[in-house]
Amino acid sequence: MPPPSCSERTISCAMKSQDYYKGSMALAPYGTYWHVLRRICTVEMLVNKRINETVSIRRKCVDNMLSWIVKEADALAEVRSIQVACFVFLASFNMIGNLTLSRDLVDPKSREGSEFFSAMMGLMEWGGHPNIVDLFPWLRWLDPQGLRRKMDRDMGKALRIASGFVKERVKERQEGGERRKDFLDVLLEFDGSGKNELAKLSDHEINIFILEIFLAGSETTSSTIEWAMTELLCNPKSMIKVKDEFAKVIPPNRKLEETDIDNQQYLQAVVKETLRLHPSVPLLIPQKAIQDTNFMGYHIPKNTQVFVNAWAIGRDPECWEDPSSFKPERFLGSKIDYKGQHFELTPFGAGRRMCVGVPLAHRMLHLVLGSLLHEFDWELDGHVTRETMDMKERMGVAVRKLEPLKAVPRKRTLSCPI
Ligand code: HEM
Repeated sequence: MPPPSCSERTISCAMKSQDYYKGSMALAPYGTYWHVLRRICTVEMLVNKRINETVSIRRKCVDNMLSWIVKEADALAEVRSIQVACFVFLASFNMIGNLTLSRDLVDPKSREGSEFFSAMMGLMEWGGHPNIVDLFPWLRWLDPQGLRRKMDRDMGKALRIASGFVKERVKERQEGGERRKDFLDVLLEFDGSGKNELAKLSDHEINIFILEIFLAGSETTSSTIEWAMTELLCNPKSMIKVKDEFAKVIPPNRKLEETDIDNQQYLQAVVKETLRLHPSVPLLIPQKAIQDTNFMGYHIPKNTQVFVNAWAIGRDPECWEDPSSFKPERFLGSKIDYKGQHFELTPFGAGRRMCVGVPLAHRMLHLVLGSLLHEFDWELDGHVTRETMDMKERMGVAVRKLEPLKAVPRKRTLSCPI
């Protein structure tokens, strides 16, 4: 991992759109603004106590996802295979929407919700696309891939809608409406008190923070779940082991709950093994040296960009036996986890700039993946076999499967009706 003196970030051209980087926490310089936001996240939003208070929100989003899948599979009559990632993404997006703004953004009845959703899809696409301008800044005025133009369009739209949500909430609060205690309320209540040199957050900073939570939390979790499903469908012995564990731990006719996660050792191993082979942010977020630094004998001059290749480390034969095989068993009885202490497995990074959303991501990944596996028996789409499964990747904010996974869900006969 880079030394602490590499805790600065480099700003890509796309992220300069609409001054995004000026309100972003992920791209903020290592200073007061970053410290304050990081503390708000770790103390008030993404801490386990707070996450425990929102169990019912995630339950509702998962139940909706399961019933959409049943409806879609029924509607397709003969060809019953569905695009798994599509449903998982909608569920993750609604989870983040409810935690942040207390609303379902993927709601056919909400026009603003669907516009916000499509603008955010654009930001995820353009924001993660490699841009030649970042290598040759003198090409900026030409914008040869049109990424800045597309980013400006979608960022402008997303910010307009987010600021509408914020204004609506401010008005509601002024009129004495009920306090919702979601992320937006926490941001509005931050009064810059204490030792902080930072005053209240500006409207722009609040709007950007809202976008950032969606950008950081929805695509990463849903692409990881798509990879886990893909690997399990290609490795039926592992699929059977997860299901056997459910049968031992969860009483018949009960859904998987978040409280079951600690007892699901094999499911946890599946998630770790998926993150080892398919970290959704393979080079993490590049860091930058604040000052000249010596690290493991290497001289790193000030302002050097440091990339950590978590993807390659996860497949390094020096660290892992038979690294390219999907073998969750390697984590059973092992202390290795992804909380930033074991440098052979760092899908969330490590050190000061490590992902602040790990406690939430941990719950979302296990609950959504576990529910998909517990409620349905899955089969590969008729034309695809384990041998012909396409494992190519596509760059975005997170690395997804290039060819979306299609699989057939068959409702488990014993489970309760959704
Ligand atoms: C599978 C899910 C996720 C993965 C793989 C992931 C991965 C990462 C990685 C690799 C970083 C950069 C770490 C570094 O520079 O060393 C990061 C940063 C970040 N993540 Fe996540 N993340 C996930 C979910 C989430 C969620 C659910 C949230 C919030 C709701 C979140 C919020 C953030 C934020 C705000 C940062 C910037 C931290 C900083 O610069 O201080 N992430 N994430």
